[in-house]
Amino acid sequence: MKINNFSAGPSKIPNEILQNISKEIIDYKDLGYSVLELSHRSVAYEELVSISKSKLRKILHIPDDFQIIFIQGGATFQNTFIPVNKKSLIDNISFLISGTWGEKTHSDFELYFGNKISNHNIQHIGYENALTDIANSDEEYLYFTSNETIEGIQIRDFNTFTNKKLIVDMSSDICSYKFDWSNLSYIYAGAQKNLGIPGVTICIFRQGFHEKNTKTSYLDIENHIKKNSSFNTPPTFSIYVLSKMLDWIIKSGGIKKIEENNSKRANKIYQYLDENNDYFQLPAPKNLRSYSNIVFDFKEGFKTQKFLNHSVENGFIGLNGHRSVGGIRVSNYNSITDEMIDDFLVLLEDFVK
Ligand SMILES: Cc1ncc(COP(=O)(O)O)c(C=O)c1O
Repeated sequence: MKINNFSAGPSKIPNEILQNISKEIIDYKDLGYSVLELSHRSVAYEELVSISKSKLRKILHIPDDFQIIFIQGGATFQNTFIPVNKKSLIDNISFLISGTWGEKTHSDFELYFGNKISNHNIQHIGYENALTDIANSDEEYLYFTSNETIEGIQIRDFNTFTNKKLIVDMSSDICSYKFDWSNLSYIYAGAQKNLGIPGVTICIFRQGFHEKNTKTSYLDIENHIKKNSSFNTPPTFSIYVLSKMLDWIIKSGGIKKIEENNSKRANKIYQYLDENNDYFQLPAPKNLRSYSNIVFDFKEGFKTQKFLNHSVENGFIGLNGHRSVGGIRVSNYNSITDEMIDDFLVLLEDFVK
């Protein structure tokens, strides 16, 4: 049976990359040994890191005064890594919260600083009110999650917050649209959605963002900068897969093409759901609907599990909403194809009929 993998992360890897990787698991670049055996102190690995950073710069149009590090610990580690490297955030940051991941980071920042951190939660006050409150707030920095993977809420236009310096968790939408860097200070993303597999987190930040760190060596961002992301043994295979994904993005036509394709696929699904709104409900506000995770449910709740069972029987995996919210979630990351979306819509239409 053909499998359509819509998992929210770790997620689908393009088939051509899987084939290429399977060869290099046996012999990496004709060196006679496996990429799994690649030493992080070898010239081949140093090249891999440097080239990956250059590709990332090219794809995302990263300005020269931004630095890039690859680090472990997942996106969750950033809830510690960022405050530990910038203690002055303690009374100088507020949060725009649009879902679960932002809430978790907010609560970790409060734990780290032992202090209340101001927040604007769109689930409580709505997006427009949150924007007004933010525009009138004093804090220099603003944190948000550009794509809330669980709720399917996405904030793509960073220019909305012109009076703030932004720190953004882009774990589930990095490299899926072009954005402006002018008010960004620090972005980060775990690789396991748009950029490969778990293990590496990509951090991109403005030079001078961090302050002197008095904690242990791994927590000091300066060590990771100085050692070109090899301060200790890095997740070599994840970084290798990242480099393959970056090549694939360039080959697919770059970020603009990727954005065009992703939005077309997402809108196809949203259009179907809107046209059939007798059956479906969508929790995300219409102006913040995500292109990356399309979250919806049947109005008649008992149909959800029936549909999910039906989808698994037909080779569709990963369509269940996050366990905290239930419902259905179509993860439409970069590697999802038009054909997969068409097949999904046929499955859904048949089920509705
Ligand atoms: C937007 C977002 N932020 C953070 C995380 C946490 O990532 P990790 O498991 O790499 O710590 C996730 C996980 O799915 C996510 O989707």
